[in-house]
Amino acid sequence: MPLVPSYIKKLEKYKPGKSIQEAELESKASNYIKLSSNENPFGPSPMAIEAIKNIYSSLNRYPDANGFALRSKLAKKFNVKTDNVVIGSGSEGIMSSIMRTFLLSDDEIIGSEGSFIGFRVLANASGRKVHWVPMKEKKYNLEKMAEKITDHTKIIYIANPDNPMGTYITKSDFDIFYDYVPKRALIILDEAYYEYAQDQVDYPDSMFYRYDNVITLRTFSKAYGLGGLRLGYGFAHDYLVENLNKVKPPFEPSLPAQSAGIAALDDNQFLEKTIEENKTGMKYLSKEFESLSIEFITSYTNFITTVWENSNVAENIVDKLLERGIIVRKLSSFGWENCIRITIGTSKENAILIKVLKSII
Ligand SMILES: Cc1ncc(COP(=O)(O)O)c(C=O)c1O
Repeated sequence: MPLVPSYIKKLEKYKPGKSIQEAELESKASNYIKLSSNENPFGPSPMAIEAIKNIYSSLNRYPDANGFALRSKLAKKFNVKTDNVVIGSGSEGIMSSIMRTFLLSDDEIIGSEGSFIGFRVLANASGRKVHWVPMKEKKYNLEKMAEKITDHTKIIYIANPDNPMGTYITKSDFDIFYDYVPKRALIILDEAYYEYAQDQVDYPDSMFYRYDNVITLRTFSKAYGLGGLRLGYGFAHDYLVENLNKVKPPFEPSLPAQSAGIAALDDNQFLEKTIEENKTGMKYLSKEFESLSIEFITSYTNFITTVWENSNVAENIVDKLLERGIIVRKLSSFGWENCIRITIGTSKENAILIKVLKSII
């Protein structure tokens, strides 16, 4: 059809992790344990749930188009001006606005091969030239990414920590790379898993740098347990935010999302519990994987990627787990054929996973 541009025709459809409903349709097991989408296994922040209950009767009203209350709260928490804060329908929603706001027709994008699919889809859908640079030792290869910088480079994307590898680039990696990047190019530092990685001493918290050409992206989808609401936020120079806000759909995020976000930011108890339990789960799974001789990549997120002999072996493990009611994610669509990504669950879910894995292998 001539109506569809060729770069859109060529796009592969985004394949999300299997949902519980899908799994139930496909197999006979019930009470699925879903460890495939890096969601928060402890549910949504209770304070966010309360806040949503309190706005039911206002759902006939549009949300505040400036998102003032949530943006001010984020500004206060992270010690910046409200004008430096952007909010959107998930951090992916903000990424999409970034692409539409800043890219000229001959601009180029640099990203990493095998990294976050959400960005891959947006970059390929933009119709711009994209340089996908292979990783080195399961990490972003910043040296090779720097070599791809041209006079047309406009957006450089770094997920830190990365999904699906779970690895991060260190402060010194970032500092060296930053010196290569011209000021007319934007770096998107996607810190969706920031809360899980922030205690690593060499993790480069981009809010510490506050460079004029760096856009930090974070999300309520992971540590705050609000993936279903679609709420993300970002920090950038006010000039960038001002222009982003002209392009972003005016009434995003929704009223429930904005209200829940404001409340979730006060829910320290939930956040601390999430991070602590995730640490415990990560330790437990790592130890068990080691004792089962399952290769895995040390992760600073809420998931662990395991590495198998080949694609067939990985596929077999995924299928067998599914038959036994556990949904995990084979990473073929990311380009890692022999890898399976497993989200850290509750302690009960993690124990069941290990029990079932033991019986399979
Ligand atoms: C690296 C990374 N960035 C962004 C997202 C999406 O976040 P959001 O739900 O805020 O769109 C994810 C979700 O898995 C992710 O892994």
